[in-house]
Amino acid sequence: MQILGIDVGGTGIKGAVIETATGKLVGERLRIETPSPATPESIGLTIKELVKQHRWSGLIGIGFPAAIQHGVARTAANIDPSFIGLPVADHFSTQTSCRVWVANDADVAGLAEIRFGAGRGVAGVVLVVTIGTGLGTALFSDGHLLPNTELGHILLSNGLEAERYASEAVRDAQKLKWKDWGDRLNHYLLTMESLFWPDLIVLGGGASKKLPKFAPQITTRTPVVPAHFLNRAGMVGAALFAEERFSRH
Ligand code: BGC
Repeated sequence: MQILGIDVGGTGIKGAVIETATGKLVGERLRIETPSPATPESIGLTIKELVKQHRWSGLIGIGFPAAIQHGVARTAANIDPSFIGLPVADHFSTQTSCRVWVANDADVAGLAEIRFGAGRGVAGVVLVVTIGTGLGTALFSDGHLLPNTELGHILLSNGLEAERYASEAVRDAQKLKWKDWGDRLNHYLLTMESLFWPDLIVLGGGASKKLPKFAPQITTRTPVVPAHFLNRAGMVGAALFAEERFSRH
């Protein structure tokens, strides 16, 4: 089955048609800058434009940077607060005239990794951390997702919120060297390790491509690997999520 997978990020909104049986991209990946302010109206129009550029009229899955409960956004750390309480799936469905399913961006990236990527066949607990404008998390036990974990917002022992200390956006804004940022990420991963004792940690998002640059700083006993789909995991997983929901009905 082919589904348009869309990943709504803090800097870009990316979309590609995904073959759900393999997780492979069919055709081009298109990207449009995330509008500012990132309101329901402006993001809706950007998604509509992506759908138009793909000449798409089928099913759509969207990974969205918020806790999503049954299609409704519950948080808005890096998007406009007017998203809170909005039935985002219905909203984007109206904008695009397509059937749309929406889930948390890190959760769907995790689904792609568990199904076809770095977490495939891994028994036990897998923690997926997506590193971008925010820090997103997806937690799996024997392949089952506990949705909306939002563990990028925990307070670290230095009193700082993790995503304000160790995200890609902070590395950029503070022009941190990979080594210094790597120490920060390590602090975060050690904290996650001591709380959840995962068997594997998978890193996704933009920084996942650069793992060799900061790998020497990582001292967790848990193996840390880059996402197989790197920063494409969100699009792939969004399509997988939509397929799974569609096939329930
Ligand atoms: C949001 C999460 C999201 C993460 C990555 C955080 O600020 O609260 O819902 O998964 O950023 O985009």
